[in-house]
Amino acid sequence: MARLTVLAALLPLVLHATATAPSHQPPQHDPVCLQIQKVISRASAVYFPGDERYASGIAHWASSSNENSTCVVEPGSSKDVAAVLRIVGQYKTPFAVKGGGHASNVGFSSTTGVQIAMSRFSDVEYNAHSQTAEIGAGLIWDDVYAALEAHNVSVVGGRVSGVGVAGFTLGGGYSWLTNQHGLTVDTVVAYELVKPNGQVEVVNKATDPALFFALKGGFNNFGIVTKFTLKTFPMTGVWGGFQFVAGSDIAQNTAAVADFCANVKDPKANIISNFGCHAYCFTFQPAMTQILFYDGPNPPAGIFEKLLAVPTVIADVSSRNMSSFMKSVPDNAGLRGAFHTVPILKFTPSLLNVIANESTFWGSQLASKGAGLISYAIEPFQPDIYKHNPDKTAYPPVRDVGYLPLNLYFAWVPAEFDDDFHAAMVASGDVIRKAALAEGQDITNGPLYPNYALPETPLSAMYGKNVAELHRIKKTVDPKNVMGLAGGFKF
Ligand SMILES: Cc1cc2nc3c(=O)[nH]c(=O)nc-3n(C[C@H](O)[C@H](O)[C@H](O)COP(=O)(O)OP(=O)(O)OC[C@H]3O[C@@H](n4cnc5c(N)ncnc54)[C@H](O)[C@@H]3O)c2cc1C
Ligand SMILES: *[C@@H]1O[C@H](CO)[C@@H](O)[C@H](O)[C@H]1NC(C)=O
Ligand SMILES: *[C@@H]1O[C@H](CO)[C@@H](O)[C@H](O)[C@H]1NC(C)=O
Ligand SMILES: *[C@@H]1O[C@H](CO)[C@@H](O)[C@H](O)[C@H]1NC(C)=O
Ligand SMILES: *[C@@H]1O[C@H](CO)[C@@H](O)[C@H](O)[C@H]1NC(C)=O
Repeated sequence: MARLTVLAALLPLVLHATATAPSHQPPQHDPVCLQIQKVISRASAVYFPGDERYASGIAHWASSSNENSTCVVEPGSSKDVAAVLRIVGQYKTPFAVKGGGHASNVGFSSTTGVQIAMSRFSDVEYNAHSQTAEIGAGLIWDDVYAALEAHNVSVVGGRVSGVGVAGFTLGGGYSWLTNQHGLTVDTVVAYELVKPNGQVEVVNKATDPALFFALKGGFNNFGIVTKFTLKTFPMTGVWGGFQFVAGSDIAQNTAAVADFCANVKDPKANIISNFGCHAYCFTFQPAMTQILFYDGPNPPAGIFEKLLAVPTVIADVSSRNMSSFMKSVPDNAGLRGAFHTVPILKFTPSLLNVIANESTFWGSQLASKGAGLISYAIEPFQPDIYKHNPDKTAYPPVRDVGYLPLNLYFAWVPAEFDDDFHAAMVASGDVIRKAALAEGQDITNGPLYPNYALPETPLSAMYGKNVAELHRIKKTVDPKNVMGLAGGFKF
């Protein structure tokens, strides 16, 4: 991990040193940014290149998702968000909205126009009476868990450190608590939304059922969310953490994972198993990493024994609080990277073997192109996770079949090989899709999870039968297509 971090940290310095010398003219600030600066209140601020807040405002988890914007706007009130939307709409200036900045596609929360960074929306307010929490759209889940932990409650949120509340919740949200309560979208009771026309509204099932439906998977198509109200659930300590398994023990671990997928029915138990090495690679020895989770301080017997019996190089698994659990998993921030996904019905031993082979095959193919890691995350949820919510949501368009989002994550250093990594991911996804079909899994109509999907993914592949209705709602809410100035999947 140390080696990877150092490399990622040095790269910008190298690039900087070889860049042409800066000119000595005073910077010409973008007129749209200056206009925004003029109208916003003191709750908000505009930052220009060279400022520390500019740098953090445009920063993304995957360095390939970074773009240099003309300025960074940190709005501090819904009213100022509305003012910014009015100005970018008037000048037809491209813009981006960033929550936690974990988008794996460039241009989804980055721009060469005006970067809106939501970091000032950072409050967590727990309401014990309604069993809900109001959560600012600029937060990452780590902060939300830390704030709620004191009340012995939690929310259906992110599974590893650093992920933003906003994009996660606006795209779906597969959580450690999903087996028990559904996706994050299933637990949203209200949105505070700045609509493209500048109106600030609380959107819930009663006030605007169509928009409420559309926001549950529809990302930034309908305006800018400033606050989410989520259901809370009792939580008094969890059990689990991180494991790293060396190549020689992959067979034993794969058998244990297959056994977990086939036999564990306790909805409080879950795992993520990665074929490929998370944060510890660069040598491309085949390896696995995984995260074990139980919602309670002590898992009952009969769930994790086989996984725990596998020899590990690193293991940090214990009874702990959610914050400590989140810290146990290492992060890969800073590399170039992309996500891809295949809907799967069952992680059978034979399909796991195909995936294991894909990981070693592409690991060796791409090592010479500066691969940082090649990983395939097995996320074995229970088949009934979509039945917790009787209401329709934009994503998933299908709720009667338990499609599981297999996550492909490739990361690398040199930008010149972006296309090679993209092509490899597409090819590998096809191999896995065909293998699942060949063993009789009917995944033809399985929707792709928008938060894992490549940028060229057609809307119908993610939102299925909901696409027409989402187009209609979009036209009503945003007739001038202001939100079309921001990137991402567009209705
Ligand atoms: C390390 C890592 C782990 C992950 N783990 C999981 C996981 O366990 N489960 C899961 O389901 N997904 C997971 N994901 C995927 C994750 O859900 C998406 O990357 C998600 O979009 C991140 O949200 P963000 O706020 O950090 O992203 P951002 O890049 O800030 O935003 C993503 C999208 O949301 C839009 N958006 C952001 N804020 C707003 C707003 N206030 N109003 C309107 N639109 C907005 C952006 O414009 C952009 O289109 C993971 C991703 C990474 C990189
Ligand atoms: C942004 O600008 C900096 C400084 O000019 C440059 O080094 C960097 O490569 C640019 N980044 C992108 C993604 O264009
Ligand atoms: C949370 O749980 C702990 C341990 O079970 C208990 O000591 C504490 O009083 C609880 N806090 C609240 C706010 O209920
Ligand atoms: C969570 O656990 C960590 C590490 O044991 C501890 O430092 C922290 O205070 C705990 N948080 C809460 C809210 O109890
Ligand atoms: C491993 O995967 C590669 C690439 O998809 C494929 O060409 C090869 O036949 C596979 N090997 C086995 C043993 O399945």
